[in-house]
Amino acid sequence: MKIKTIIAIFGVVFSMNAAADVTNAEKLVYKYTNIAHSVNPSYQAPSITDGKIFFNRKFKTPSGKEAACASCHTNNPANVGKNIVTNKEIPPLAPRVNTKRFTDLEKVEEEFTKHCNDILGADCAPAEKANFIAYLLTETKPSK
Ligand code: HEC
Repeated sequence: MKIKTIIAIFGVVFSMNAAADVTNAEKLVYKYTNIAHSVNPSYQAPSITDGKIFFNRKFKTPSGKEAACASCHTNNPANVGKNIVTNKEIPPLAPRVNTKRFTDLEKVEEEFTKHCNDILGADCAPAEKANFIAYLLTETKPSK
């Protein structure tokens, strides 16, 4: 199957009950999928499973500590998170739960790159970003 076909199917699945922010999140998934595919043609479509693994995986941060995205955002992106550094609450990341997410794409992309640098010590790969946002779009229910 051609990449465009896969992206089109993915778009149809995800555009059911799409709000503005959800549409924006999908746009980013397409964008990163296309970049990832041009870097590595065997990358055909975002993987929700890999996105979830990425979210929960512990990384050694540049400061030497271990942290996962889930350390602050909890193991469910639909939950309210808590910043392990400042103890401040973090509104849910999942755009189907928190409609304020993904409203300003430029800001989100900047924040995403900054986050990746903080946690991984480098920017995340386009495939990781595509997988991660595809995963975020599937989380609709807070578990706490
Ligand atoms: C040390 C705590 C911490 C860790 C670890 C962390 N984040 Fe965040 N994250 C935050 C805070 C604080 C914000 C900003 C507050 C907000 O947007 O609600 C945020 C915001 C975000 C946003 C929203 C950006 C926006 O503009 O809407 C995304 C996406 C995100 N984080 C992804 C990740 C990913 C992916 C990882 C793992 C690589 C990660 N975060 C790890 C604390 C953290």
